[in-house]
Amino acid sequence: MLYSNLSVNEKGHLTIAGLDAVTLVEQYGSPLMVLDENKVRENCRTYIDAVKKYLPTGSKPLYAGKAFCFKSLYNIIESEGMGADVVSPGELYVVNAANFPLEYVYFHGNNKTDEDITFAIKTGIGRFVADNRDELISIDRIAGENGKKQRVLLRLSPGIDPHTHAKISTGNVDSKFGTAIETGQATELLKFALTLKNIEVEGFHCHIGSQIFESEPFCDAADIMLRFVADAKENLGFETKYLNLGGGFGVRYVESHPKIDIADNIKKLGEHVNAACERFGITAPAILLEPGRSIVADTCTTLYRIGSVKTITGYKSYVSIDGGMTDNPRYALYGSEYTVLNASKADKSADFVCTIAGRCCESGDLIQEGVKVASPERGDILAVLTTGAYNYSMASNYNRICRPAVIIVKDGETRVGIRRETFEDLIRYDM
Ligand code: LLP
Repeated sequence: MLYSNLSVNEKGHLTIAGLDAVTLVEQYGSPLMVLDENKVRENCRTYIDAVKKYLPTGSKPLYAGKAFCFKSLYNIIESEGMGADVVSPGELYVVNAANFPLEYVYFHGNNKTDEDITFAIKTGIGRFVADNRDELISIDRIAGENGKKQRVLLRLSPGIDPHTHAKISTGNVDSKFGTAIETGQATELLKFALTLKNIEVEGFHCHIGSQIFESEPFCDAADIMLRFVADAKENLGFETKYLNLGGGFGVRYVESHPKIDIADNIKKLGEHVNAACERFGITAPAILLEPGRSIVADTCTTLYRIGSVKTITGYKSYVSIDGGMTDNPRYALYGSEYTVLNASKADKSADFVCTIAGRCCESGDLIQEGVKVASPERGDILAVLTTGAYNYSMASNYNRICRPAVIIVKDGETRVGIRRETFEDLIRYDM
């Protein structure tokens, strides 16, 4: 099995954290997302321990809630000592509803409206990651109106191409995110920010992309950012407290993806940061990291019921399931790979080559093409692994399909994390 929390029981059924996947669907219905709490904790601890061991004092990992955002998940993550990054007032609302300490919450986004900024300041956000000059002006004004001095980091683009999917690469100079270092505009932004009375600049942020397997792009980004930190000190006397290097560590979705040792990558990054600081003659700032995918992706499995198996003579076979792009749009959007298996026949050899199709009225509604599944039949439970990141958070109600339930399993017990959407939910906003 791809992960150690998955196994097969005496009935030949897939088990997740020791619980029978077929029984879980009988109990909670399908599609069903099953989140393993202990695995979330394990992933958090990998970051917490490595950050403490290898990065400068004051460094902290922040969970990027855009990957999967709901109250119970934040409770788990907060209890492990992580901070959080939010990218919209909606995510801020959720993290606040989970009583997450806002001191450790960072508000991102390339277009925060005045309403967003007011809401965040009134709610008591720890820090903004300010994207651009227009936004800084608004934060300064709104902070002043509320009698506050607002802490911010400036989002800069280091000009790094991390060799990942173009749609999830963000650190290039030509990007909608941040302000470019290469063009000199980042220095101008810092100078400007330092003139604003109601803003306290604490440091800088960059994010180069997502699903990155090597440590080199992060080290390259750290180099560029630390050179900027050194220049800011030398030319403007600015002392950087925090350098946020964003998220992006990759996750193994299929056997052919490389195994990634996150602790070792953080160790390498730490060594790199220390060496660069020595070279530039600066004190190392505290390093913030923003993992999303690598905290939650491998903690969740989606279970579907198979409705039909259709072989088109001379072409291929389609296995249709009772979910699809509405709960997992990542294949349709990025061609993302997933491991798929028949949870009802997990002990049988997977030799039926097929395309897994969702139930939407749309040909592109596929979960995977050309995968091998053990003799699928109507009624079997199909498991798609590694669905914790950017599945539920990107889910939709297209075709008025209800979002699935998310259950949390821990030490043999289950509880509902997000209840299944109902038809009534679908007309809640209709007048
Ligand atoms: N910080 C910032 C500023 C980000 O933009 C992102 C992801 C993260 C942290 C978390 O990165 P992670 O550790 O999860 O790779 N929807 C796409 C992923 C988009 C990622 C956007 N930013 C997908 O499904 O692959």
